[in-house]
Amino acid sequence: MALYIGICLAVVYGLTAMTAAQADMKDSCRWKCLTFAQLWPGSFCLTFSKHHCMIPDQVDGWTIHGLWPNGKEFCNRTWKLAKKDIGDLWTDMRKYWPSLISENPFKFWQSEWIKHGTCGTCAKNMSCPHKYFSLALELRTKVSIDDMKDSTLHYLTWALM
Ligand SMILES: *[C@@H]1O[C@H](CO)[C@@H](O)[C@H](O)[C@H]1NC(C)=O
Ligand SMILES: *[C@@H]1O[C@H](CO)[C@@H](O)[C@H](O)[C@H]1NC(C)=O
Repeated sequence: MALYIGICLAVVYGLTAMTAAQADMKDSCRWKCLTFAQLWPGSFCLTFSKHHCMIPDQVDGWTIHGLWPNGKEFCNRTWKLAKKDIGDLWTDMRKYWPSLISENPFKFWQSEWIKHGTCGTCAKNMSCPHKYFSLALELRTKVSIDDMKDSTLHYLTWALM
C-alpha cells in the first residue's frame, strides 16, 4: 500500500494568462498546482517505526497529510494558527487529519498551516485557516482514494476556482 498519494489539484493561478490584477499578486501566490497528500496510517507507522507512531482509535482509513501549494513554503511566518480558528472542525480534523507521531495534533496542524497554508491565502477557498482546513476536509470526500481505480491514482486535476 502506498505511503502517500499526492494529487495534483488545479491550478489557481498560472494556467490562464495573467490579468493585470494577478500580475500584482505577491510571488507567494504564483504556484501552479496544489498537492493533496493522503496517507495510509499503517504504512506510515511501519516506515517511521523507529519513532513513536500511534494510530488514534478514531482513525479508520486514509488520512490527510496536507494540502500543499507546490513549490512555496512559509509564506507568512507571522500568521499563526489559533485553536479558535478551527474550533468547529476539531472532531473531523482528529479523525481525518490526525497526527500519528505527536499526541498533540494541534501542533501538527499549526506546522502545516505555517509551512503550507499561509501560501494559499490568496486563493478565495483558502483565504484563512478555517477555509484552508475546511477545503482539505471537503477534498477528502471528493478525492476518495478507496473509490479510485489504479489508472486514475497518479494525477487528477480538479477545478479549484
Ligand atoms: C501575514 O499575516 C499577518 C497576520 O495575520 C497579516 O496581518 C498580514 O497581512 C499577512 N501578510 C501578508 C503578506 O499576507
Ligand atoms: C472554490 O470556491 C468556489 C467559489 O468561490 C467554488 O465554486 C469551488 O467549488 C470551490 N472549490 C472547491 C474545490 O471547493
